[in-house]
Amino acid sequence: MADHARFDLFADFLTQRFAAPRIWDVAGGMGKLNQALVARGRQCTTFDVRWKHLPNLDYREQLLELSEPCQCDLIVGLHADGATRIIVEYAAQHGIPFAIVPCCSDNGMPYKPWLRHLAELAQDLGMATERRDLAMRGRCTMIVGTPKPT
Ligand SMILES: C[S@@+](CC[C@H](N)C(=O)[O-])C[C@H]1O[C@@H](n2cnc3c(N)ncnc32)[C@H](O)[C@@H]1O
Repeated sequence: MADHARFDLFADFLTQRFAAPRIWDVAGGMGKLNQALVARGRQCTTFDVRWKHLPNLDYREQLLELSEPCQCDLIVGLHADGATRIIVEYAAQHGIPFAIVPCCSDNGMPYKPWLRHLAELAQDLGMATERRDLAMRGRCTMIVGTPKPT
């Protein structure tokens, strides 16, 4: 079962690690991570295709596409399923950091190979990656990517 502490745990990590004022939360579901980030003083925009979500959030009911003009300093995804890959690609294309907590793959790949695949994708796109675990139940491994200095 998904751990409801995940939103606060991920928001704590993100705000301690990154000074980024504007954060995009991709596949953010109801917007609970958005709420947790705003409570910590950050601006957050959530992208998801769900029409039902928490009120009074900056919420875009749409898929994120690579062509979307970049108006964020950090892009993240918590159990973002089919949207996880585009977070990595978007970060690399726009030269911003990302943090993802992967869950299901978009192509039937099992969990551990999916984690390796996402890290390798980021590295192939020129980013440095690291893995950390959040202190939550369930799929808790986070991959953090940062653009390599040129
Ligand atoms: C497992 S839920 C996780 C939601 C939320 N991040 C959480 O932790 O509760 C996966 C979410 O991904 C969204 N999603 C899947 N593919 C997407 C895509 N390509 N773009 C945006 N959202 C997507 C779904 O609508 C769903 O809300």
